[in-house]
Amino acid sequence: MYHASRLSVAPMLDWTDRHCRYFHRLLSSQTLLYTEMVTTGAIIHGKGDFLAYNEEEHPVALQLGGSNPADLATCAKLASERGYDEINLNVGCPSDRVQNGRFGACLMAEPELVAECVAAMKEVVDIPVTVKTRIGIDDQDSYEFLTRFVSLVSEKAGCEQFTIHARKAWLSGLSPKENREIPPLDYPRAYQIKKDFPHLQIAVNGGVKTLEESLEHLKHLDGVMIGREAYQNPYILAQVDQLIFGLDTPVKKRKQIVEEMYPYIERQLANGSYLGHISRHMIGLFQAMPGARQWRRYISENAHKKGAGIEVLETALAKIPAELDV
Ligand SMILES: Cc1cc2nc3c(=O)[nH]c(=O)nc-3n(C[C@H](O)[C@H](O)[C@H](O)COP(=O)(O)O)c2cc1C
Repeated sequence: MYHASRLSVAPMLDWTDRHCRYFHRLLSSQTLLYTEMVTTGAIIHGKGDFLAYNEEEHPVALQLGGSNPADLATCAKLASERGYDEINLNVGCPSDRVQNGRFGACLMAEPELVAECVAAMKEVVDIPVTVKTRIGIDDQDSYEFLTRFVSLVSEKAGCEQFTIHARKAWLSGLSPKENREIPPLDYPRAYQIKKDFPHLQIAVNGGVKTLEESLEHLKHLDGVMIGREAYQNPYILAQVDQLIFGLDTPVKKRKQIVEEMYPYIERQLANGSYLGHISRHMIGLFQAMPGARQWRRYISENAHKKGAGIEVLETALAKIPAELDV
């Protein structure tokens, strides 16, 4: 039987790219890391390699955006051949751009189509195919609406895991950002889904800011997905291996994480990446510590400059008081 990861970092467009995931992996060896959403169109017709990732990122899940079963199957197969550990279908993103392509949260209204999509992917891969969804859309926000969605997609397509962002989405009228803040969180709905579908793996997402809260959710559910807090305050991940996964490895210090990034950064720079593309994910690392503002500012002002290398991070690190053992 397949088990959901007890903790994961959410898919976040423009944020959870491969540099970010490499950095997060240094903070936690066990957390499941999701890619940004990648559309089937980008993979099939795009010019770049949209499936590139670093081996060190495992376990890593690819989130796909799309609603054409054949295209999704093509992309899932490619991803599985490339070694991804899970494929996740985005049924939660409410942006207009996404709705025009008929995928994301609007697919909640078409559970049969979602089931077809999941079935088509499961047909061609052995890795888990999971779904990330909301608790409802627009006026379709009853518990029955959600159960109908979950039962159809699990029974028809054999989907075994759902990650539920525990708020509904308004498909028009709210921006994606507002749709992450305004509709109220309703965790009991996610708990009730687990009670009603005990054979399924259910993870919850939305508004989780601490590992203590995560442990509370884990009393009711199989997994917790953290988005913004993991990105903006990444050091929250440093104790996940110990507190959530029960390992007895030492908790790494922030300074150690920065230094562990150096060899990676040097390799990436040698391959033509810019420091700023990597260091932008690291600026929240010292949140709430003395020197955090100077760390952040020095990186923001210098990492984008031509030829910038790890000396920028070394100088920024020197802004953190030396006597601070963090
Ligand atoms: C910058 C940003 C980009 C996001 N991109 C995606 C995405 O590509 N796919 C997706 O399913 N959700 C996306 N989300 C939503 C998150 O995955 C998550 O569901 C949401 O932020 C709620 O979790 P949180 O309160 O822990 O942040 C994005 C969120 C943010 C802040």
